[in-house]
Amino acid sequence: MMTATAVAHPNIALVKYWGKADAQLALPATGSVSMGLDVFPTTTTVTLDGSAETDSLVLNGGAAPEGALLRVQQFLDLVRDLAGSADRAAVVSENTVPTGAGLASSASGFAALATAAAAAYGLDLSERDLSRLARRGSGSATRSIPGGVAVWHAGDDQGSYAERVPAPPMAMVVVTISAGEKAIGSREAMRRTIATSPFYPAWVTSTTETVGEMLDACAAGDFTRIGELTESNALRMHATIEGAFPPIRYLNARSVAVFDAVAELRAAGTEAYATADAGPNVVVLTKPEDRGAVATALAGLGDVIESGTGPGARVVRSEG
Ligand code: PMV
Repeated sequence: MMTATAVAHPNIALVKYWGKADAQLALPATGSVSMGLDVFPTTTTVTLDGSAETDSLVLNGGAAPEGALLRVQQFLDLVRDLAGSADRAAVVSENTVPTGAGLASSASGFAALATAAAAAYGLDLSERDLSRLARRGSGSATRSIPGGVAVWHAGDDQGSYAERVPAPPMAMVVVTISAGEKAIGSREAMRRTIATSPFYPAWVTSTTETVGEMLDACAAGDFTRIGELTESNALRMHATIEGAFPPIRYLNARSVAVFDAVAELRAAGTEAYATADAGPNVVVLTKPEDRGAVATALAGLGDVIESGTGPGARVVRSEG
């Protein structure tokens, strides 16, 4: 019986992915750049079962919701196609990210699943091909395969993968405001943004430019520029989403209070920059030496967790 266990960490985009050019192949409309975290790992075990009739999924010790099981089954179908196998699999996943709260639980989830499933089905994939595979599960998972500071290239099926880029040492402080389920998932929200937000074309043009600027700032080790681009790009994404009809708003009053507190920290001389994904939680980019002070300053605004730059996805056990 083939079984493999993999661990992957979430990543937070410095330049966001918001919108697909091809939904079937999960090709993004623009490139994006992220920092992998070293907290909130997902550990996933995939065990092949030649006699089972369907795939199964246990999430955090309990039966997974129907929608999650369906997404995992569709993903495993891709792996089976690549491997030329018909075997069903039992998937057991422990996810320490607050699921669905806009903290990229799908990034660590599908990066761990892609890595464990590829190993269990006997595929010997390069990091590039593994990140292309993870992309089909969830776009942001593409960047959790390499970990570190990574760029995910827009392109065709072959060319759209993530790889590490050189960058200065950085840290993040995650401010969790709500660990509850988000109102509208990123897939539906992206579809609605593309279909109805008048700002979407400008988002695509400006983000394409920002990716280049961010890669230049990373290569130059210019933390200030990285931070400025990060906060600006996050607010542009939220403005674009808020322009959809009916509107979608992920940031709430408590999220905005964190952006304000971060601006105050900067005014007082500490370099910190805020970003947020498809939920109310805010993540603050800092220099490693400032992360403790930033966490202390923001502690009254939510649950704060400090993170360094995290590793890529990896197989931790495989048998059979
Ligand atoms: O691929 P998804 O569904 O996890 O979409 C990710 C969208 C954002 O987290 C908002 C931005 C990003 O680049 O991670």
